[in-house]
Amino acid sequence: MTEPQVPGKKPFLYVVACAAGVADDVGKLITAAQEANRDVGVVATPQGLGFTDTEAVEAQTGYPIRSAWRSPGEPRPGRAADAIAVAPATFNTVNKWAAGISDNLALGILCEAPAMGVPIAVLPYLNSAQAAHPAYRQSLERLRGMGVLIGSYEPHPPKAGGGAGRYRWEEALELLAPRLSVTP
Ligand SMILES: Cc1cc2nc3c(=O)[nH]c(=O)nc-3n(C[C@H](O)[C@H](O)[C@H](O)COP(=O)(O)O)c2cc1C
Repeated sequence: MTEPQVPGKKPFLYVVACAAGVADDVGKLITAAQEANRDVGVVATPQGLGFTDTEAVEAQTGYPIRSAWRSPGEPRPGRAADAIAVAPATFNTVNKWAAGISDNLALGILCEAPAMGVPIAVLPYLNSAQAAHPAYRQSLERLRGMGVLIGSYEPHPPKAGGGAGRYRWEEALELLAPRLSVTP
């Protein structure tokens, strides 16, 4: 799909941040995206909100972090996404998304976006015990079949402090690059 970018405007990247240990480093992805000439807005899962430095993210992006559904009757907030990076993506959100569960704003956006032609990259961050669950493998297969681009992070051992040092935030931009160019 080629996304409907507004001529002369930077592509708008949604970063969906879940409740994984590395979420407080999401600023690294925001910086990399801004350096690549993207505008960035962050949508956090309700749990993910507690894992991110809301003030820092809002100062960096210039947009409020979205996490809750709007009330019926409230106007639709903000710009539509030209692309979405789900980073960090938890075991929980990957499985719920693939199963079509839409019980928070982030999942609602993710469940609809593939059919709306919005390019999506997901960078899971989880441990090998979570990744060994058969549902997880099936979820990745299902997301791949929906056209979602999947990051290459090798899950870290459980209870071992994680692998933040080898989590490549910029991989989301690399995966999305062919689908997300600035319209002159
Ligand atoms: C300190 C802490 C770190 C966590 N790190 C991870 C993680 O790296 N990956 C993961 O899949 N879940 C992790 N979890 C579990 C998730 O936070 C939990 O499954 C949560 O329900 C996910 O919510 P979300 O998918 O809606 O963001 C962690 C939990 C805690 C308390």
